[in-house]
Amino acid sequence: MNVLYSLGAVVALIALAWVGGSVAGLRPLFGVILPYAAIAAFLAGLAWRVIRWSNSPLPFRITTTCGQQKSLPWIKSGWLESPWTTLGVVARMALEILLFRSLFRNTQAQLREGPRLVYAESKFLWLGALAFHWSFLVIFARHLRFFLEPVPGCVLLLQDLDGFFQIGAPVLYATDVVIVAALAYLLGRRLFASQIRYLSLFTDYFALFLLLALAVTGILMRYFTKVNILEIKRLAMGLVTFSPVVPEGIGALFFVHLFLLSVLIAYFPFSKLAHMAGVFLSPTRNLANTNRMRRHLNPWNSPVPVHTYQEWEEEFHDKIKAAGLPLDRE
Ligand code: HEM
Repeated sequence: MNVLYSLGAVVALIALAWVGGSVAGLRPLFGVILPYAAIAAFLAGLAWRVIRWSNSPLPFRITTTCGQQKSLPWIKSGWLESPWTTLGVVARMALEILLFRSLFRNTQAQLREGPRLVYAESKFLWLGALAFHWSFLVIFARHLRFFLEPVPGCVLLLQDLDGFFQIGAPVLYATDVVIVAALAYLLGRRLFASQIRYLSLFTDYFALFLLLALAVTGILMRYFTKVNILEIKRLAMGLVTFSPVVPEGIGALFFVHLFLLSVLIAYFPFSKLAHMAGVFLSPTRNLANTNRMRRHLNPWNSPVPVHTYQEWEEEFHDKIKAAGLPLDRE
C-alpha cells in the first residue's frame, strides 16, 4: 500500500504542476513563489535540524570503528579504521562521503537449505547508491549553466565529459542513463526483495518516485519534447539575481520539473534525505578515537566532594599502624 500511496502522491504533484504550468495566471506561483518558498523552508528546516542535533548531549567519544584503537605502543592499531589523528578522521570521512566505504561492507542474510542462516556479501546496494549519488551530483553541477553567465569552463568541460560517447542529437549524457538505471534498481530492490519491502515506509518510496519523476521530466525536456532553453535561462537567472521574471512560451513540462524540485527541496530537511548534512555532523564518525590514549572527563560533571584513599590512610594512619595492617605510605 505504501508504494501506491507514494506513487499516487507524486502523480498528483505532477498533475498539479502541469495545470500550474498551463494556466498563465498560475505560472508566477509555480515559477517564482513556490521555488523561493521551498528554498526558505530548506534553509530554515536544515538550520532547525542542525540546532537539534547540536543540542544532543555528547559527553563521550562514541566513534564507530572496526579496527583496533590506539593504546599501548606494542598493540597494533588501525589508523584508518579507528583513527586517532585529525588526518585519519579526514581520510575516513572522505572515503565514507565520496565512496560510501561502510556500505561496501554491506551483507545480506539468506535462509539456505538446512535451514541455515547465511550472511553473504551484497555489493549491489553500494553500487546502486554510488551510481545514483554521483550522477545526481554531476547533473546538478551541469545545471549551473542555467544559473551562471558566462558559464564557467569547468561546467562546460563536465558537460563534454558526460556526453563523451557522442550518441545522438542532442548528445546523450551518460549520467541521464545512469541515474534512471540506479533509481530503478533502488526502487526495484524495495519492491521485489520481501525483507526490504516489509521495512519500507511511505517516505522511502516517496523520495525515490520524486527523484525519478524529476529525472524523467528533465530527460523528456532534453530528448523528446523541446522546451525554450533561452527563456528558461532567463527565468533561472531572474531567480538567482532576485529580480524574478516569468517569460512566455516555456512549456508546461518545465514547470512540472521545477515544481518537483521545489517539493524535493522543501521536503529535504524533514525527511531521511537530511543524511546529506548529517553525515558530516555524525559524532560516531567525525571524532578521533582517543578513548584509551587520553582520559576524558565529562565537561559538565558537577564537582563531587571526594575522599581519596591517600587522604583516608593519612587520617587513620596511626590506627592502621597500631592494628598491624599494611600501609601504602609508611
Ligand atoms: C538538482 C535538481 C535537478 C535534477 C536532479 C535535474 C535533473 C535533470 C535531468 C536528469 C535532466 C536531463 C538532461 C540533463 O541531464 O541535463 C534535466 C534537464 C533539464 N533541467 Fe533539470 N534537474 C534539476 C534541477 C533543475 C533546475 C533548478 C532547473 C531550472 C533551471 C532545471 C531545468 C532543466 C532543463 C531546462 C532541462 C532540459 C535541458 C536541455 O534540454 O538540455 N533543472 N534535469
